[in-house]
Amino acid sequence: MNADGRTRLNQTPEWTALAKHREELGEVGLRELFAAEPGRGTAYALRVGDLYVDYSKHLVTDDTLRLLRGLAAATDVFGLRDAMFRGEKINTTEDRSVLHTALRAPRDAVVEVDGENVVPGVHAVLDKMAGFADRVRSGEWTGHTGKRIRNVVNIGIGGSDLGPAMAFEVLRAYTDRSMTFRFVSNVDGADLHEAVRDLDPAETLFIVASKTFTTIETVTNATSARSWLLAALGDEAAVAKHFVALSTNAEKVAGFGIDTANMFEFWDWVGGRYSYDSAIGLSLMIAIGPDRFREMLDGFWIVDEHFRTAPAESNVPLLLGLLGIWYGNFHDAQSHAVLPYSHYLSKFTAYLQQLDMESNGKYVDRDGREVEWQTGPVVWGTPGTNGQHAYYQLIHQGTKLIPADFIGFARPVAELSDELKAQHDLLMANFFAQTQALAFGKTPQEVRAEGVPEELVPHKTFQGNHPTTTILAPELTPSVLGQLVALYEHKVFVQGAVWNIDSFDQWGVELGKVLAKRVEPALTEGAEVEGLDASTEALVATYRELRGR
Ligand code: F6P
Repeated sequence: MNADGRTRLNQTPEWTALAKHREELGEVGLRELFAAEPGRGTAYALRVGDLYVDYSKHLVTDDTLRLLRGLAAATDVFGLRDAMFRGEKINTTEDRSVLHTALRAPRDAVVEVDGENVVPGVHAVLDKMAGFADRVRSGEWTGHTGKRIRNVVNIGIGGSDLGPAMAFEVLRAYTDRSMTFRFVSNVDGADLHEAVRDLDPAETLFIVASKTFTTIETVTNATSARSWLLAALGDEAAVAKHFVALSTNAEKVAGFGIDTANMFEFWDWVGGRYSYDSAIGLSLMIAIGPDRFREMLDGFWIVDEHFRTAPAESNVPLLLGLLGIWYGNFHDAQSHAVLPYSHYLSKFTAYLQQLDMESNGKYVDRDGREVEWQTGPVVWGTPGTNGQHAYYQLIHQGTKLIPADFIGFARPVAELSDELKAQHDLLMANFFAQTQALAFGKTPQEVRAEGVPEELVPHKTFQGNHPTTTILAPELTPSVLGQLVALYEHKVFVQGAVWNIDSFDQWGVELGKVLAKRVEPALTEGAEVEGLDASTEALVATYRELRGR
């Protein structure tokens, strides 16, 4: 039993029914499923906003989907969803509401936290961001010496870096090409060094992005960035024109020396990994302009509304979440690949890694009891076609089941030359060919029919039955990016709800931070650190010897 009196997940009749169904389906393959239902290609497809989502190449039948929806009903996924949208404190271990959906709500929407409508506050910050972004873009906001700002450097890590860095890359074709944007996250000094070495400090704006403003990497990099600036401009007063902060923590921002008038706030009901559509997106807004940023938020909102209102049968985030559960919990799949066929999505999967793995990488349920079922998968992938020439071999012929999402676009971005635009069909031919090959493979008979010598037949046989979802959109626009991110946010939500875990805390990252603080004095000052294990002690001694200390 759970604390709320409900049966534990793996003891519910719905779970047992799925396990039995999995056994009954046995090795039924995609060739058989497609042969049995000629209309499967369109029957197993849904639309949400601009996204066409084909899930026909999954190892599922109507019965599987019905049973999965039964599991969602038994675990009250929609109940938790409604509680999230209502602003209830569903992040129980941190006692917080989870309201990233309020960040994209239209001006006239009402979303309450503790009886207060938060939407006017959200729009006040968006308006302040827009005013600032316009002033930087137009050259009205100048640096300390009066020079125009031409470079924007975002300093943040995790959710305060991955979102804006990813979205900047995705929407590069919409950015102001006369400006330079860089994203610094790593406490490795090389990151900041490479980001600023060719920039003029007098033309550079630093955006220090940190929800807590206590993250050691960000505070350290921001301090070094300030030294770099002041070394060139020689006047403390320069900080006011070259540093702004994005945070929930005004006190720490002021303590760092940034005028809180130059702070863009957000709230504790926005998780770091769900925050790039808040003030954390300021660098992106400067890059693409406030109107495009709003288009992106509206894209998020389309999928929010769909998730909130669509029935289970046509609810795309629900479906994608349940398909992941089908493979992770009933097929022993350990990982999930996200393979975008767009160069602009080069950082998309890295962004999803934090979204998914920090949210659902949990071993205890909401009641603090160890789960008896698998939770979040390892999420990985890079854009095609590059991956095809690297690791796809393992997906096609390896021994692991790796469900994958293929994301592609019908039209290339507008600014490409005609010749480069023409390459798009070749890109997309690969896109369609890969999911076909993964699903249907190549039988030994087909291989033999090509005259392949018998000893090579097993090597050239593709077993197929590698499940994929295909997400096809007309074009990569700010709205489509918003739709895609919201789709994954809600997919992750669905899975966390079924697994009965808190998808909105991240206690697992704390221990490493604490230990790093303890070890550091041993590296820098040679201090004795009590309680180091024998391995770490030897490693630290070797490090100091090699470092010449
Ligand atoms: O490392 C964990 C984490 O708390 C993430 O969840 C978060 O996105 C990141 O650190 C950065 O945190 P902050 O924005 O407070 O600097």
